[in-house]
Amino acid sequence: MKVYLDNAATTPLAPEVIDEMIFVMKNVYGNPSSIHNWGREAKVVIENARKTIATLIQASPSEIYFTSGAVEAITTILWGAISSLQVRTIITSKIEHSIVIHTLDKFQERGFVKVEYCKTDGLGHIDLQHLQTLTEANNGALVVLMHVNNEIGNISPINEISLMCKQNQCYYCTDMVQSMGKLAINLKEISPDFAISSGHKLHAPKGIGFMYIRKGVKIQPLLIGGQEMNQRAGTENIYGIAGLSKAFEIAYMNYEYNVDYISGLKQYMIQLLEKIPNIEFNGDAKGNSLYTILNVSFPNETKYEMLVYKLDIAGIAVSEGSACSSGVNHLSHVIQELPNPGRPAIRFSFSKFNTKEEIDYCIEIIRNFN
Ligand SMILES: Cc1ncc(COP(=O)(O)O)c(C=O)c1O
Repeated sequence: MKVYLDNAATTPLAPEVIDEMIFVMKNVYGNPSSIHNWGREAKVVIENARKTIATLIQASPSEIYFTSGAVEAITTILWGAISSLQVRTIITSKIEHSIVIHTLDKFQERGFVKVEYCKTDGLGHIDLQHLQTLTEANNGALVVLMHVNNEIGNISPINEISLMCKQNQCYYCTDMVQSMGKLAINLKEISPDFAISSGHKLHAPKGIGFMYIRKGVKIQPLLIGGQEMNQRAGTENIYGIAGLSKAFEIAYMNYEYNVDYISGLKQYMIQLLEKIPNIEFNGDAKGNSLYTILNVSFPNETKYEMLVYKLDIAGIAVSEGSACSSGVNHLSHVIQELPNPGRPAIRFSFSKFNTKEEIDYCIEIIRNFN
């Protein structure tokens, strides 16, 4: 049996997304910047996608800028905040995605910004009191705190964080890579200055994503040129954009069913894992955490060593942390911030394509480790 439980790393393409992309590949090949009919047809694909996505997340189409994915979006925003908004302090946490941690390390090393780390508690939630102190002391700073943590699934109170940022004249950027398409998103209400999304986490292809920049906030582009309202140069990836739009459409069309079905899988796995002695769930697994992610620590026993590899041999894909660090034998930077970091930890992450039978198989394999 082959079981894919690494959906926080990337997801399989949805059949509807493949169909939509094939249709566009076959029928639309103009350069969206060309003024003739072929170009206009390609431009329509992009603008329709922008409208569809904006409507689903309660944004204005002019606030959505397509990029090659989340890393480009985050880098553009971080660099833009420093170069255009005179941001000199960035407030983040040690459990952000490694792209944020590494980029900010480099920016600090080069003297571009000072980085302040907000504390997290034993469950991996942001310490809001500490965030209040940091934002009060650093008016004009950029706060970078993700919506859903990609390793442990914790959901952050982004409405509260956004309000706190406004009250203390800070900018707010939230990484919504794990939450877009999986939680109801109302950007008008949350009102962050920046948000980011990546297609391949919600059954769209790799190499497409977008940044949301709130109306009125202006940053210089990283890639300079005319496309994407002068905010991101380069001939647009129209196939990816069409696929991304379709993925958003189907995610929200079947939203309640998906939440219910996938939450059921996570709860089922929790119940079965709890029967194994000395298992611990990392983060707020049974509380405020996303229904697609479950991070588990196993006892420090020889049979639980090399877990990812043993599961791989049995045909099961999981990860030790984020995909960026799996395969490399080091402790996840997120788990290190939690109590008991020394135990072998595994992230199981689910999608609508998983089944209870797959979970039964996975548990059977774990139970038979020796
Ligand atoms: C929370 C989060 N942010 C950013 C990224 C990077 O996304 P992309 O692969 O689109 O560059 C990921 C993917 O692992 C992620 O989970």
